[in-house]
Amino acid sequence: MSREFDIVLMGATSFVGKITARRFAKLLSRQPEAFRLAFAGRSESKLASIIDDLKREFPNVAIPVLKGDSMSEHDMTLIAKRTRVVVSTVGPYDLYGDALVKACAENGTHYCDLTGEPQFIHRMLANYEQIAKDSGACIVHCCGFDSIPSDIGTYFLQKRAQEAGMGQCVDVDMRVKAMKGGFSGGTIASLINIVSDVRRTPSLKKVLFDPYALCPQNKGIKQTYIGKAQSDWVTDQWVAPFVMAPINSKIVMRSAQLLPDLYPDGFRYNEGMLGGKGSKGRRSAKLISAGIKTIVVGAAMAPTRWLLQSFVLPKPGEGPSPAEQEAGFFVVQVHGKTETGHRLSVQVKGDQDPGYGSTSKMLSQAALALAFDLNDDQVGGFWTPASLLGEKLIERLAANAGIECCVLN
Ligand SMILES: NC(=O)c1ccc[n+]([C@@H]2O[C@H](COP(=O)([O-])OP(=O)(O)OC[C@H]3O[C@@H](n4cnc5c(N)ncnc54)[C@H](OP(=O)(O)O)[C@@H]3O)[C@@H](O)[C@H]2O)c1
Repeated sequence: MSREFDIVLMGATSFVGKITARRFAKLLSRQPEAFRLAFAGRSESKLASIIDDLKREFPNVAIPVLKGDSMSEHDMTLIAKRTRVVVSTVGPYDLYGDALVKACAENGTHYCDLTGEPQFIHRMLANYEQIAKDSGACIVHCCGFDSIPSDIGTYFLQKRAQEAGMGQCVDVDMRVKAMKGGFSGGTIASLINIVSDVRRTPSLKKVLFDPYALCPQNKGIKQTYIGKAQSDWVTDQWVAPFVMAPINSKIVMRSAQLLPDLYPDGFRYNEGMLGGKGSKGRRSAKLISAGIKTIVVGAAMAPTRWLLQSFVLPKPGEGPSPAEQEAGFFVVQVHGKTETGHRLSVQVKGDQDPGYGSTSKMLSQAALALAFDLNDDQVGGFWTPASLLGEKLIERLAANAGIECCVLN
C-alpha cells in the first residue's frame, strides 16, 4: 500500500489521545524515520497547541495535522485514503465512530481503537464486516485495557498449555488481582451512553448480555457470569464483578471462534475482581460490587446521572494526572483447566495505570503492529487483538509497553 502516512491518530486532542500522541512522538524522537505519522481532529487550533507542546519536548519531531470532523463521511474518507492505519481515540465511539470505521473498511485502511461499547462493535460488524473482508482492511476494536490483557492473557495461556502438552484450556477464569488508576471523562461518557442507549432501545440488552453477541456464531455453550460478590473456588478468595467483564468476555469469545485451532469447542470464560481472603476479602468484594451497582443505577436515572456528572465524575477532557498514571499498575491472572484436567495459570502485568498510561502504550503498539507486523496471508475483516496480532503483540508489549505476560505454574 503506497500511502502518504503509516499511521494517523484521529482524536489526538482527547484525554487519552494526547497521551497516545506523546507516546508516538517519543518513539519518533528516537527513530525519526521509523514511521510516517499524522494527527487528526476537528479543531486545528487544539491540534496546533498539542504539536507546539510536543515540539518543546521533542524538537526533532515534525508531525503534520489533518482536519476532519468524525461526523462527516467525506472528511473520514479523505483521512482513510491518506494512511495505511488509523488509530482512533474519538469517543464515545457509539456516538462519533461510525463514519471512520466505514471509511477504513471501504478503503482498505487498517483501523484500531479503544472502544469498550458492545453495541457499537455489534453495529459495525453488521454494517461493515463484509466490506472490510473485500477491501482487505483489518479492523481491531478494544485495543486498550479493555480488552488486551484479557484477550492476550487467554491467548498466551492457550499457547503455553498446548506447548506444554496439556491440550486446550476449556475452562478459563480471568481474575483482576490488583489495579490502581482512575477514569477519564471520555470513559465515563461512554459508560453513561451505554446505559442511556439501553433505556432508549431496550432490545440492546440482548447484545449487552449475550456472551456471543460479537461472535461469528452462537455456540450455545452456557457461560457463567460473576454478577455479585461470591466465594471463588478458583482462587480460594472472594471475588466481585469486574466492570469490564461484559466487553472483555465478548472479545475473548470472538478470539476463541476466530482461532479454532487454539481454543476448544466448548470454551468457557468468565472474569472477576479479587477482593482477598476471609472476612476482609468478603467486605472488599461486597464494596466493589455495591460501587458498580451504584454507578450503573445512578447513570440510569436522570437526576442522579446529573449529580454524578456534575459533582463526582471527571468531565470530558479530564482524567488521572501524569503522576497518578505513573503510580498506577495492574495485575491480571488467567487460570485455565484443560480438557484432560491439567491446570495452568498465567499473569499479565502492566507498569502504569490501566486506563491511560498503559492503555496508550497498548494502543500505540497495536497501531504499529497493524502497520508493520501483518503477514501477506492475513486477510481483512473484523479481528480481535489476539486473533490478528497474537504473539507479535505480546512481544511488542513486553519490549515497548511495560506489559509482561508470564506463566505462574
Ligand atoms: N479501552 C480502554 O481501556 C479505554 C481507556 C481510555 C479511554 N477509552 C475510551 O476512549 C475514548 C476517549 O476517551 P477520552 O477520555 O480521551 O475522551 P475525551 O477527552 O472526552 O475526548 C473526546 C475526543 O473526541 C473528539 N470528538 C468528539 N466529537 C468529535 C467530532 N465530531 N469530530 C472529531 N472529533 C470529535 C474530541 O475532540 P475535541 O477535542 O475537538 O473536542 C476529543 O478529542 C472514550 O470512548 C473512552 O471510553 C477507553
